[in-house]
Amino acid sequence: MKKDLGSLPAVFPMPVLMVATYGEDGKVDVMNVAWGNICAMDKIALNLATDRKTLKNIRARKAFTVALADEEHLKEADFFGTASGNVMTDKFERTGFHAVKSAHVDAPVIEEFPVTMECKVEEIRDSFGEVKVTGTIVNVLADEKVLDEKGKVDAGKLHAVMFDQFNNAYYSTGSKIADAWRIGSELMKK
Ligand SMILES: Cc1cc2nc3c(=O)[nH]c(=O)nc-3n(C[C@H](O)[C@H](O)[C@H](O)COP(=O)(O)O)c2cc1C
Repeated sequence: MKKDLGSLPAVFPMPVLMVATYGEDGKVDVMNVAWGNICAMDKIALNLATDRKTLKNIRARKAFTVALADEEHLKEADFFGTASGNVMTDKFERTGFHAVKSAHVDAPVIEEFPVTMECKVEEIRDSFGEVKVTGTIVNVLADEKVLDEKGKVDAGKLHAVMFDQFNNAYYSTGSKIADAWRIGSELMKK
């Protein structure tokens, strides 16, 4: 028996993206974004509320980076989604994290997160009361410790986290259970 739950953003899992920017004054800010995803092979779209410091920074510098939050840094990742650079002037410094300038875009790379997309802004547009920012991923930086022997990101080593917006909770990504485009292929042979 199914029950109606009403209109909900009922997608699970949601990502836990760490969007890092520079302010006009060069100050680093990092924000937690669950409403973001790949929207073309080299594009990522972020849904931002209009008052975010991150949005101001993106408008000013036309660039951002997006890192994948991992279990090891979950406390800080959550903090980046709780405090705002609009009011907390030492938001980034409080974490003790380290930032270096991206070699490709005008945005910081946060050293503690293992995988980072370096993005230049393509489009900023109003979208249903919020703002949709679309960026081109010009490069991906990955720590060697999360790569497999072929140089690809190994999700088993990454320990990325997922967001459950039904209950405002984080989940671990667990272990691999099957190969995509393979486990379903036996039904093709019927
Ligand atoms: C798990 C989680 C997911 C979030 N996802 C979003 C999001 O997709 N878009 C958004 O505008 N705010 C989102 N937030 C809230 C912002 O991260 C939060 O308002 C943050 O303080 C903004 O920082 P800033 O003002 O320094 O940019 C999320 C917060 C958490 C904890």
